[in-house]
Amino acid sequence: MNSNYSTYTQLLRKIADVQNAASLLNWDQETYMPAKSATFRAQQLSTLAGIAHELSTSKEMEEVLNALANDTSLSEKEKRNVKQSLKNFKDHKKYTTEFVKELSQTISETFQAWHKAKENNDFASYAPHLEKLIGLKRKEAELLGYEAHPYDALLDQYEPGAKTADLEKLFADVREQLVAFVKQIAAKPQNEDTFMYLHYEKQKQWDLGIDLLKQMGYDFEAGRQDLSSHPFTTNFSCEDVRVTTRINENDLNEMIWSCIHEGGHALYEQGLLPSEYGLPSGEYISLGIHESQSRLWENNVGRSLNYWKANFPLMQQYFPEQLKNRTVEDFYKAMNIVKPSLIRTSADELTYHFHVLIRFEIEKALIEGKLAVKDLPAYWNAKYKEYLGIEVPNDTQGVLQDIHWSHGSLGYFPTYSLGSFYAAQFFAKAGLEIPNLATEIEKGNMQPLLSWLREKVHRHGKYYTAEELCVELTGEKLNFKYFMDYAKAKYGYLYGL
Ligand code: CO
Repeated sequence: MNSNYSTYTQLLRKIADVQNAASLLNWDQETYMPAKSATFRAQQLSTLAGIAHELSTSKEMEEVLNALANDTSLSEKEKRNVKQSLKNFKDHKKYTTEFVKELSQTISETFQAWHKAKENNDFASYAPHLEKLIGLKRKEAELLGYEAHPYDALLDQYEPGAKTADLEKLFADVREQLVAFVKQIAAKPQNEDTFMYLHYEKQKQWDLGIDLLKQMGYDFEAGRQDLSSHPFTTNFSCEDVRVTTRINENDLNEMIWSCIHEGGHALYEQGLLPSEYGLPSGEYISLGIHESQSRLWENNVGRSLNYWKANFPLMQQYFPEQLKNRTVEDFYKAMNIVKPSLIRTSADELTYHFHVLIRFEIEKALIEGKLAVKDLPAYWNAKYKEYLGIEVPNDTQGVLQDIHWSHGSLGYFPTYSLGSFYAAQFFAKAGLEIPNLATEIEKGNMQPLLSWLREKVHRHGKYYTAEELCVELTGEKLNFKYFMDYAKAKYGYLYGL
């Protein structure tokens, strides 16, 4: 190996080691950390973040990247890695220490203000903090630079290469096609799901979740599952990828969908190659592609009739009383109720995208300076009325519901919808390429699907951009048609349209 490239690899692996140590401390903080540990833990995390930042922006890194930038002897994969790292390096360098400090200070204040405001339904006390933070995000967009729209610079942090103009087209399709389709569904009689809310014992739910993860191909030798209040996936290498779930004894949905969703995220991370550790070629592409993996398993597989033909008998073994006299068809209908609701995180897989659409429109307007923070609640409520047909009773259940803006995460929400839309397009292709995919799933054999995803998506790391991967895999760029086709076939059947 070229000696510069080998220095570069060692530097990146060192940074990855520091960051993964921080991730382990974070995981602990969300799962088992004793309460008194909080203060020192915050300090430890901040120290590690500082070390990682110093390593990422060091003179040594700069020199080796500059030497490699014009090195024509590198392989295509090596060139792409270097290009990625150079971009990261340059982006890091655009931030002044002053700006980073002000941003991080403002985020902690805004976050605290948000917590109180949400508890007390008091948007007014939160507004000045958010306003300051939005100002800083606009400044950040200027620091980072953009071609067409300042929002592009923010999007790029979560979905590299994504453009506001493309999202506008995509969400125009959502507005035109999905809103109308959900109205058709709403005019039909609702399906029954009361039995999902009977008492389902915690330990049995836990055991069922483990069975489902194993069946998907999640490797418990390279990970584990724990409980946390907000389910998440984290990893310290592709050989240690951990998931968490939450269990509500009076709502079977929470465990099932968080388990399968996080399992999908974890399969992606477990499918990255150990040989690429620390390098871009050993990392996920974007949040949208990450979410495509979780949503593909959660919705396209997990909320399908075939999947439950395989697993409903198992569920009945765990819960014979609760599911007595229920058929797999009853269960299929109950898990796919479409109903406009106030809260994004508990929305069904169709109306979910209206929640995202609203946030996208708001973020864009805030960054463009066309919407003032003080007008946010009224704007929010009007959008919920327009797209979901519901009245928002208070800001706690309205504009204050999400954590993202208080963390300074603007440009993040669209990746949720991108994930579902990519998932539909990828899964349609899987159906064409994998022999008898539906029958294999019905038999509980997930291996053909997992192998296909490993081969087509996981093992490539960040070699492709999201758009390149999509073209490589499906022959075309992201196309909303696949999601609509999926939605119409499935919900047309479920609601007799
Ligand atoms: Co997710």
